[in-house]
Amino acid sequence: PHVTIKSICCIGAGYVGGPTCAVIAHKNPHIKVTIVDLNAARIAAWNSDELPIYEPGLDEVVKSTRGKNLFFSTDVDAGILEADLIFVSVNTPTKIKGIGAGFAADLGYVESATRKIAEVAKSDKIVVEKSTVPCRTAQSMRYIVSTPNLFLTHLGSFSTNTDALPTRGSQLEANAKPDIHFDILSNPEFLAEGTAISDLFYPDRVLIGSLDTERGRSAAASLADVYAGWVARDQIITMNLWSSELSKLAANALLAQRISSINALSAICEATGADIDEVSYACGLDTRIGPKFLKASVGFGGSCFQKDILNLVYLSESLHLPEVATYWKQVVEMNEYQKRRFTNRVISCLFNTLTGKKIAVFGFAFKKDTGDTRESPAITLVNYFREEKAYISIYDPKVEESQVWMDLAEPGVVDETEVIKKQVSIAADPYEAAAGADAIVICTEWNDFRETVLDYERIYASMKKPAFIFDGRLILDAKKVSEIGFKVETIGRPRTTFVQSKDFE
Ligand code: UDX
Ligand code: UDX
Ligand code: ADP
Repeated sequence: PHVTIKSICCIGAGYVGGPTCAVIAHKNPHIKVTIVDLNAARIAAWNSDELPIYEPGLDEVVKSTRGKNLFFSTDVDAGILEADLIFVSVNTPTKIKGIGAGFAADLGYVESATRKIAEVAKSDKIVVEKSTVPCRTAQSMRYIVSTPNLFLTHLGSFSTNTDALPTRGSQLEANAKPDIHFDILSNPEFLAEGTAISDLFYPDRVLIGSLDTERGRSAAASLADVYAGWVARDQIITMNLWSSELSKLAANALLAQRISSINALSAICEATGADIDEVSYACGLDTRIGPKFLKASVGFGGSCFQKDILNLVYLSESLHLPEVATYWKQVVEMNEYQKRRFTNRVISCLFNTLTGKKIAVFGFAFKKDTGDTRESPAITLVNYFREEKAYISIYDPKVEESQVWMDLAEPGVVDETEVIKKQVSIAADPYEAAAGADAIVICTEWNDFRETVLDYERIYASMKKPAFIFDGRLILDAKKVSEIGFKVETIGRPRTTFVQSKDFE
């Protein structure tokens, strides 16, 4: 007999918490869902007609439920008090300082949200870890909710060494809030940006991790009922806490590894005369490999892949598994190499210098159909071009101009935007970006850049000659575009211009 959830609170109204809990409310009209956040502007936006996040289908979901059983509020305490089940869906950026800087996740937000729950709660709560967090975070959360008044310096930096923590049933835990029970679950989210609503409506699986105790299994069953509002029971998987936490990191690491593997092969294709699209297609037909996530690119971006792999690397190192750490780290290094390699190709095709040349950068978002630029390969490329003293004109259909300046500024350097603007400009459309340019570099796979959509004849006429296009996303029909007169260089295909050696032809 497990608890039937009547009221849910979600702490953190971000990319994950917002859409996920909106869908939960939409599919469970009998459950009251309150999404809380400290950021008042963000909550105001969720309560307005201009939601703070763009996702196809999100507007409809929110409009159909908001004010009925879905609420957005800044009153975190009230949200916690009322709920039977609380999602913790706060941000977990990579640490920039201290132990594990550049690798470990900053769990400060998770810690403070968890502490808040421990402090405010007056009845039993099921606490669900929803942020992407390193393996064994649930253990820390359990420790915090059971010892609210303890000052835990080491948790801010998240040590995976939870051996140092008292074990279950220790005196500290027993002495916490004597009549209140907190059950911690892990319930990782697998949604991708741009397809969040359809990923939530039709998930491949829902993962729920719990302690293998009666209380743990019962809490998991309560959460499973919430998802059963729209997900088939056999797609709701329960497992132990650590497996569930690690599965999230592992899934992202495996996906990123596929891209790095295909990108490593793209380098071989360029040097030999093989075509990466043909190789991907051929490999993907093997049902053991499968066709998805085999598109060569100038590099992967986004807020998850790199962060999660670095978490995995840090975890491996903390567990004294250096070979494992090195193995996964290579996935990120290959990604960096791909960006450098593509830049070198641009430079070498443009007669070994970019000084004073104009480069049109098509696309700044980390993938198509989003305005998100986190870890976008375009940022790295533009910075390389700047170092080579090129002038850069950027066009992206969705990215805000102010975001570009923020991304290009070095962290910590006081407003150098004016300096950057001497070299970089933002164009209103692709034609403006390309006018007078020596080369176009396609960084994002927007459909808008396809030769079936853009007037490349017009673009060609406006550019310096020879006019180059570097397709970093394999979206152009190279043959068609080169018939216009362009010199087309495609990632994962051999060079077409100024090839020194004909050995491989
Ligand atoms: C392999 C390829 O599968 C085949 O397509 C190619 O033509 C030849 O190489 P084979 O070597 O006969 O075939 O065996 P395979 O079944 O692929 O297994 C190779 C090794 O991987 C075995 O030692 C197997 O035990 C191991 N393996 C396989 C795992 O450790 N884990 C797995 O999930 C799968
Ligand atoms: C990813 C995971 O897909 C999702 O399950 C997880 O919850 C969060 O991280 P997201 O970062 O939104 O989602 O985007 P995704 O579509 O996975 O793409 C990530 C990056 O890989 C993008 O830069 C994309 O352009 C690149 N990519 C993807 C490739 O270069 N080639 C491919 O074949 C696929
Ligand atoms: P994600 O992509 O993981 O959803 P976001 O950064 O988009 O991450 O969202 C996380 C949200 O969590 C932010 O809006 C932030 O204001 C909120 N947040 C962080 N810490 C707390 C806290 N202790 N209480 C309430 N909200 C918090």
